[in-house]
Amino acid sequence: DQSTAMSRNPSQAATPRSVVGIGNKVAKPDYSEAKIVLAMVGLPARGKSYLSNKLMRYLKWLEYDVKVFNVGQLRRSRARQKALQGGQKEDHTAQYFSHNNAEATKLRDQLAEDSLEMLIQWLKQGGNVGIHDATNSTLSRRAKIEQRVAKEKGIVVIFLESVCDDPAVIAANVALKVSSGDPDYKDTSPEDARRDFLRRIKEYEAVYETITESHLSHLRIRNVGDQVTLSHIHGYLQSRIAFYLMNLHLKPRSIFFSRHGESQFNVEGKIGGDSPLSERGLKYARALPALITDNIGDAPLTVWTSTLQRTIQTAQYLPYNKLTWKSLDELDAGVCDGMTYEEIEQAYPEDFANRDQDKFNYRYRGGESYRDVVVRLEPVIMELERQENILIIGHQAILRCLYAYFHNLPHADLPYIKIPLHTVIKLTPKAYGCDEERYTLPIGAVDTHRPKPGAQTQQPALVGITREYYGEN
Ligand code: F6P
Ligand code: PEP
Repeated sequence: DQSTAMSRNPSQAATPRSVVGIGNKVAKPDYSEAKIVLAMVGLPARGKSYLSNKLMRYLKWLEYDVKVFNVGQLRRSRARQKALQGGQKEDHTAQYFSHNNAEATKLRDQLAEDSLEMLIQWLKQGGNVGIHDATNSTLSRRAKIEQRVAKEKGIVVIFLESVCDDPAVIAANVALKVSSGDPDYKDTSPEDARRDFLRRIKEYEAVYETITESHLSHLRIRNVGDQVTLSHIHGYLQSRIAFYLMNLHLKPRSIFFSRHGESQFNVEGKIGGDSPLSERGLKYARALPALITDNIGDAPLTVWTSTLQRTIQTAQYLPYNKLTWKSLDELDAGVCDGMTYEEIEQAYPEDFANRDQDKFNYRYRGGESYRDVVVRLEPVIMELERQENILIIGHQAILRCLYAYFHNLPHADLPYIKIPLHTVIKLTPKAYGCDEERYTLPIGAVDTHRPKPGAQTQQPALVGITREYYGEN
């Protein structure tokens, strides 16, 4: 009798129990061996903090533990503490940064050393990449860093020099420093701040030594996007960092995200599949070209879709070059593909509960988790960094992952981000992050967002503005 035979062998029970890694939590990748000090090198206003933050965002998205140790911040917080303890208020105007100012130079060397020490301790406690965001602009500073890191087994140091001789980029960085309420200049008028900051740059220029230490593991990046030179870059993570930096550029551009138009499966509440668009979905496809063209005018644009027909149909009237990416296909729901959430809850109650518990890590039986999707989207992110105007016609889970990268959102929130149907999200990269606009077409569609049961509001704060789009006229 088959049923008794089954009950004698629990591994063959009709409804399989959750197995770790399938229909359950997937372990975080083991990055414990990766320990890197990334020491920035460069004059002020050469985009060191920009590169640090960008790299941090990328590596964190890939789940590395990354932290920026900014020496300027440490300098200000130490000075504040001193002032609070009744000490003399430190003067951080340009002369503080002069090589002729022996006292301040000593203080600054100490700050750089202390911040490196904090960084190393943090790596030892489990961090992967600690970014030393300082000027490190002399041979002696770099030698000190090298000697200190050499004492630590398993920790390597890479120097990342940012060289910039494009006056427009320098001017933009200077403007950012003096206008963005930078803590160094919060009590200074913009004109005085500008004058002082330019003097500070001059002080650094007087003693700046570009990297000539040929034995050092280093990367030199010239005018972000122009040229990258590598020396002694070994190992997987190091190469990955180098490759990422090689793909960055600063040209102004926008990235547009849209889900496909409403599909027949969306209307039926079914997940996955490869169904065509509904009537309303087709209406969206017809309305999309005007929205995009009104927005970017004659500028070139490339459209990326997945290989699934709902995205290809949505893109069909767009008068731009198109590319299909397998990596953009929707999260694979495995055995649950084609089911409604209610049907899944009935058939796999335990799995369904597990998914609500930890949606980022949950992997469908025979399918994927959000974590798996992030991994397969990495080449898409890399290519997005390289490209200029791109419109991605994608899927709910896919666009959540990409959106989280651009806005640096935590992985736990990622699977609940609201990416509604019939809405175009426009991201415009800025110095530290992205501006966002959302355009909603007035064409009805079902809501496929399923909030986390029992939780308060899950949606991370929206960045930017939303408007209805009714066309130019
Ligand atoms: O419902 C539309 C859809 O794109 C499904 O194909 C997919 O499984 C789902 O959204 C992903 O969203 P969630 O992770 O919230 O279930
Ligand atoms: C700073 O204090 O802002 C700074 C970058 O320090 P240093 O040039 O000493 O690295």
